[in-house]
Amino acid sequence: MADRIDDRQDDFFSRTFQTVSPALPRNFRKLPVRRKRELLRHLLELDPGEMESSGGDLLDLADVMVESALGVMPVPLGVAPGFLVDDHIVHIPLAVEEPSVIAAASFAGQLIARRGGGFTTTGTGQVMTAQIALDQPLPGAEEAISGAERELHKTLQGILAPMTQRGGGYRGIEVSRLPEEDMLVVYLHVDTCDAMGANIINTAAEALRAPLERLSGGSVLMAILTNAAPRRRARASFSIPLRHLARPPFDGPLMGERIVRANQFARADRLRAVTHNKGIMNGISALATATGNDTRAVEAAAHAHASRSGAYRALTEYRISGDHLEGELELPLALGTVGGATGLHPVSSLSLKILFMDPSMERSASRLGRIAVALGLAQNLAALMALVSEGIQKGHMRQHARRLAWASGARHEEIPLLAEDLWKQGVFNLDAAHRLLQTLRADYQNRSTASPGPGRTPGDHHAS
Ligand code: MEV
Repeated sequence: MADRIDDRQDDFFSRTFQTVSPALPRNFRKLPVRRKRELLRHLLELDPGEMESSGGDLLDLADVMVESALGVMPVPLGVAPGFLVDDHIVHIPLAVEEPSVIAAASFAGQLIARRGGGFTTTGTGQVMTAQIALDQPLPGAEEAISGAERELHKTLQGILAPMTQRGGGYRGIEVSRLPEEDMLVVYLHVDTCDAMGANIINTAAEALRAPLERLSGGSVLMAILTNAAPRRRARASFSIPLRHLARPPFDGPLMGERIVRANQFARADRLRAVTHNKGIMNGISALATATGNDTRAVEAAAHAHASRSGAYRALTEYRISGDHLEGELELPLALGTVGGATGLHPVSSLSLKILFMDPSMERSASRLGRIAVALGLAQNLAALMALVSEGIQKGHMRQHARRLAWASGARHEEIPLLAEDLWKQGVFNLDAAHRLLQTLRADYQNRSTASPGPGRTPGDHHAS
């Protein structure tokens, strides 16, 4: 249905605006998505282009996926091709707005594939954990709960049947006491197979509320999964001959040493560790977005893992072994290949098809987690290689030049040409981009009115 207002709606808007203060009607949240959009268009005097950018085919899906939907926010979807993970070639789909993320991942992924024989990964399995906090339990509650494990398991059989049929399901309970708080915490472990599993584990945890209250004599304060996902970890490592790391002005062995030192810096210094780990998550979050996974859960788990010693530290480890640099990363990763937004969103489905292009690779959450951790390690290696040699700004400014070109009005073939001009001149501001775009277009006009000859051709897509 086209986004337009008919007379009846006009009437609705004028009535609404008379009664609303300061701007949106009280029932705005409950309006159908198209009506909300029309209202905003009216109110903010948006032009159709501004509305279209947040609309499109996915509008109805957005309305189903979240409450009070207004539209969609498209982010670029790209691919970091040619990773080699456990002898499978993998092309990794990434949805991200930051310019250098895909370029950095691709660079290091291909370096490790071609010169290091690829990444090797392992995983712990897909066990999610929920916590049921019991307030003021009676003495002996731990024993009562542990002694009733069979009964508790039985309570969950129906809920967990779909997981059990797929080879997952119940994996036990544990009890621990918070003596100072006078609480008991029951940990419920469930193998959620290829689902991220938040729904199933929360349902199971809530089903234990009544039996646990009865067994403990306390009251359930809450029952909820832990996003720390401590039993859902993946690990990736690589080993690459030092000679392949050379970057001016440093030779390979010196680069290897500088990477190890950079990692030591991030293990010793919290402020650096945050940025170091943010860089690791650049790729992982982008993969989570592309595949419709919960990026906040993945981020929270990673940062909790970084603090597991009591101090917040770098997540990676690097060492020199003989004439090789070895790198390693372990992370908890609650990622799914089925369920949630992954099962609903057509872009997730596309991303998973790209990721699991190799038919010999099983399409599983375990595999997705292991690829994600290899990606995080690649992302970190690329960042460290740049940081300990020429710095990251050179690469970033190249990408920034393309954005400036777009912002100045350049389109299509004009963009790389203008970006190159900005790069050569070393000026990165909008005024310069406007000026150089005019020169580029004038140049093209002059050339096309003179005799045809070799030269730069921005094509026929000038904005008029
Ligand atoms: C930028 O998004 C990520 C880096 O800052 C990561 C790092 O410093 O390690 C380059």
